[in-house]
Amino acid sequence: MPACITTDVEAAAAVIRRGGLAAFATETVYGLGASALDAAAAARIFAAKQRPAFDPLIVHVADRDQVTDLVTSIPPVAEILMRTFWPGPLTLVLPRRGVVPDLVTSGLGSVGVRMPDHAQARELIRRAGLPVAAPSANLFGQVSPTTAQHVADQLGERIDIILDGGPCRVGLESTVLDLSGPTPVVLRPGGTTQEALEEVIGPVATRTHLASGVAAPAPGMLDRHYSPATPLRLWRPGEGVPEGRVGLLTFRAAGLRAGFATAIDLSATGDLAEAAARLFGALRELDRAGLDLILATPVPEAGLGRAINDRLRRAAARST
Ligand code: TXA
Ligand code: MG
Repeated sequence: MPACITTDVEAAAAVIRRGGLAAFATETVYGLGASALDAAAAARIFAAKQRPAFDPLIVHVADRDQVTDLVTSIPPVAEILMRTFWPGPLTLVLPRRGVVPDLVTSGLGSVGVRMPDHAQARELIRRAGLPVAAPSANLFGQVSPTTAQHVADQLGERIDIILDGGPCRVGLESTVLDLSGPTPVVLRPGGTTQEALEEVIGPVATRTHLASGVAAPAPGMLDRHYSPATPLRLWRPGEGVPEGRVGLLTFRAAGLRAGFATAIDLSATGDLAEAAARLFGALRELDRAGLDLILATPVPEAGLGRAINDRLRRAAARST
């Protein structure tokens, strides 16, 4: 039986308490949640998503005490970041305690934790009485869901319940910041910009592309990710347009439509936050349009633009 879409937080919390799978809204994307302290429940997440076990899960908390239970130490820089950016789209990778099952962290010595900026999500975690492990609620490698219906379309048959918290405000996943080593490293650009982080803690390194031959420390770095089924290529105005039914995904360039079967402008006014919020929905829409190819124009590489371009590059990597 397909999972019901509900706004009943207690029903979803009960599913998580008994080891089941509950999808829920956060400010970034919908998560596929299960108890972060129960290896069997975590195993169900991997099975439902068809996700390889070397890709660790983010653990969601509703308060600071839950963080203390999950990690062995909280460095001063993490204290500052939690105070400044939580609740919000920032995942902190910290040294983990043994209570977190190996499957949740893929056997790493660290765990990614974040407090979502969505009241219903925190209420769910509080009522469950447990930290909640949750990857994005999509099949592995595919576009992340930003509405309850997106979740139902992809995973409805494989999970127990979908908690509807409305469309996601940010629309892009959290920034993943590794604090387990001597210097902070961005492993995945996301909803908290590098500029905002640097204003608070000074320079941060980025490591979002793997040198070849290096074992993947954060499989969000896998190049093929966030992919629609239709081939997608990065494209700049003025470059040639191949034959066939070609769709355009663009930014601040509504005048470019000519010659395309369909076009979506992520933000006519050049607002990166609006573009981020619309990105995954637009990819889904273009994917349904029966196109041979999607051409996507990169956005300015600053602020949220880094995360948007990162997702576009990964969507394109699949097609090459
Ligand atoms: O916004 C988000 O982060 C959403 C919502 C649901 O919270 N979650 C999400 O989860 O995007 P997921 O599993 O799709 O992506 C989690 C990323 C992966 O790239 C994973 O490799 C990385 O976080 N990650 C998690 N724990 C880690 C750890 N201990 N060390 C390094 N990377 C980690
Ligand atoms: Mg994901």
